[in-house]
Amino acid sequence: MHVKRVALLGATGSIGRQAIEIVERNPELELCGLQSGSTPLDALAAAYGVEHAQVGGDATALLDACEPDVVLNAIVGFAGVRATLWTLERGITLALANKESLVAAGELAVAAGERGGGLLIPVDSEHSALYQCLEGRARETVESLVLTASGGPFRGRARSELSGVTAAEALAHPTWTMGRKITVDSATLANKGLELIEAHWLFGLPYEQIEVVVHPTSVVHSLVRLRDGALLAHLGHPDMRVPISFALTYPERAPTPARALDLAAGLELRFEAPDLEAFPLLGLARRAGEQGGTFPCAYNAANEVAVAAFLEGRIGFLDIAATVEDALDVVDGSPARDLDDLVEADRAARRAAERRLVPA
Ligand SMILES: NC(=O)c1ccc[n+]([C@@H]2O[C@H](COP(=O)([O-])OP(=O)(O)OC[C@H]3O[C@@H](n4cnc5c(N)ncnc54)[C@H](OP(=O)(O)O)[C@@H]3O)[C@@H](O)[C@H]2O)c1
Repeated sequence: MHVKRVALLGATGSIGRQAIEIVERNPELELCGLQSGSTPLDALAAAYGVEHAQVGGDATALLDACEPDVVLNAIVGFAGVRATLWTLERGITLALANKESLVAAGELAVAAGERGGGLLIPVDSEHSALYQCLEGRARETVESLVLTASGGPFRGRARSELSGVTAAEALAHPTWTMGRKITVDSATLANKGLELIEAHWLFGLPYEQIEVVVHPTSVVHSLVRLRDGALLAHLGHPDMRVPISFALTYPERAPTPARALDLAAGLELRFEAPDLEAFPLLGLARRAGEQGGTFPCAYNAANEVAVAAFLEGRIGFLDIAATVEDALDVVDGSPARDLDDLVEADRAARRAAERRLVPA
């Protein structure tokens, strides 16, 4: 039996904790490295006999030391970029939850992946679904990808009804339990915007071939339209342990504790168009993606700044999108030749967003 060595970055987060559950259940997986941002890891490392654990700092130092077969990048935000590029460059399997790194560093990541020649398996449930629906299919047979969005806690509200919503309301997601940043992103639809750009880089399709549809129950994780008129869907209860396990055990598909869908009990398969006026961050992401260069990096950076400010009560809900829009208007968006350029583009967009937060 070959035991896969798993380096788990973002080990103390929502994805990280669920990943530990998956590793614990599977004798073919073992943790070789753990990283968090600031939460101490001593107890976790001792409980799982993990030699390499690191709090904060550059994850690539940990990865160098622990020699993983697979890296699960579940860090939140741009902080995950270095680990994504490190892993792709070396041809080590990357199980990617940290969508922000692919959004910010799409071009560099694709180039690193081509040089490295390893596997990049998405952990985002929508992209895991698409990955599975696309497996073994010639690209020219694919008409479009359809990303599903729950619509978040404010689905159905008009823009005018969103100005006074609080962080606590935004954090009450109807179908998924996740970290705070992604939960706010789900409420603004920035999460779907990030996923749109992520899908573009993962699957190499132009933006006009990637649709977004709201599906409130989150049972259909995403769909692929084929040119002969067939529409393939991936269904299941919203449970991140399934895509985490898929990525970590690929291609074996180990069993998981996920509850089976009871089809006979009745399934609600309702879909509707996203409201781009109430939730402008989805349209802004599409525009940033189409503009290319470092515009997606700037979109992500400004969004991170704005979400943090919203969670601290410094700005209102609608200010999140306004901050991102303003930042995108002032950055130059020129392409990044390397990681240093990208880090500078990220910083410039953060500065632009911070300036927008200061009351005039
Ligand atoms: N949660 C979900 O269901 C879900 C679904 C799809 C995709 N994702 C994606 O997965 C990623 C993680 O999401 P999450 O919900 O698990 O977030 P989370 O619960 O907030 O956890 C974030 C993790 O990242 C660590 N971290 C934060 N800043 C860091 C830094 N500078 N360097 C290294 N580690 C750092 C945190 O450590 P500390 O504990 O020390 O802060 C924590 O372990 C995000 O990119 C998210 O979009 C999540």
